[in-house]
Amino acid sequence: MDTKLMTETARAMVARGKGLLAADESAGTCKKRFDSVSVECNEENRRAYREMLFTTPKISDYVSGVILFDETLRQSTKDGTNFGAYLQKNGIIPGIKVDGGVIDMPLHPGEKVSEGLDKLQSRMAEYFKLGARFAKWRAVITIGDGIPTRACLDANAHALARYSAICQEASIVPIVEPEVLLDGNHSAERSEAVHLATLETLFHELATQDVSLEHVILKASMCVSGKDNPKQAPVQEVAERTLRVLKRTVPAALPGVVFLSGGQTDENATAHLDAMNRMSPPWPMTFSYSRALQAVALKAWRGQAGNVPAAQKAFQHRARMNSLAAKGEWKPELEKQALAA
Ligand code: 13P
Repeated sequence: MDTKLMTETARAMVARGKGLLAADESAGTCKKRFDSVSVECNEENRRAYREMLFTTPKISDYVSGVILFDETLRQSTKDGTNFGAYLQKNGIIPGIKVDGGVIDMPLHPGEKVSEGLDKLQSRMAEYFKLGARFAKWRAVITIGDGIPTRACLDANAHALARYSAICQEASIVPIVEPEVLLDGNHSAERSEAVHLATLETLFHELATQDVSLEHVILKASMCVSGKDNPKQAPVQEVAERTLRVLKRTVPAALPGVVFLSGGQTDENATAHLDAMNRMSPPWPMTFSYSRALQAVALKAWRGQAGNVPAAQKAFQHRARMNSLAAKGEWKPELEKQALAA
């Protein structure tokens, strides 16, 4: 276990003004995204799409690391450079999603649990050899009538802690991602209460499993209103609720917190991150977005090589906006200026 390496990795992941690109969509999720723009989801199209993202000019000014799916870590650019090596050469750290996706939780209708701990130790050693320096495990917490249950919070936190221990033994920094879904019609207040219980349980389990908190990154969701709630909490309220719950639960020892976008609009994901960073949080707080970084680029790309420059421009713009938000320096006018340009 190389703690010096993990310290360097964690610090670089949350370097000022930089964040993560989550490009670790499984083949199934990728199909959903590609279907929306009528692109066939085959291996070559997935490769070409990721190459478009990774070769975007100046992207390393805004992106410190990329979360990859297993298939992508083994793929290469058109001219034969392995993606992991390509990213590293450009000052971007390759990471790897290692959970095996979510399944229905037995005996717990409406709740999910993540698979993937079996043989994870040997897989992790291989990922290190392939160049991955951080990993991600996503757990899903659903808000509804009578859920989440204690059983669901405990089972997911336990898996996240066991995964983290396996990562650290292989000198890989674990990202722990307990995603509280925004599906449903709950209030932002209820979301805050569920985040509180989720994060308390997670950090208790991490301590129980002897995970080194100095070498863990939290990937958090935000305390937004359920997407079917007609009364949506404003940006400032979401930012205050989210920061309050993090301050109550996340140890100061953590090197940083990153956020998922979770189905928020692109501009809301940026505005919320910006508002939180204007409140002087005790840790570096930045983005680890998939949809909120990629959606505009995917729409511009549509599987056509000729659209690559337009898609890269769209991706670079969202990365720059979120980089500003990570410093609390974003302004809505910057979005309008870009549209006019
Ligand atoms: P979104 O930003 O689209 O929520 O994806 C982030 C992620 O990595 C989900 O696991």
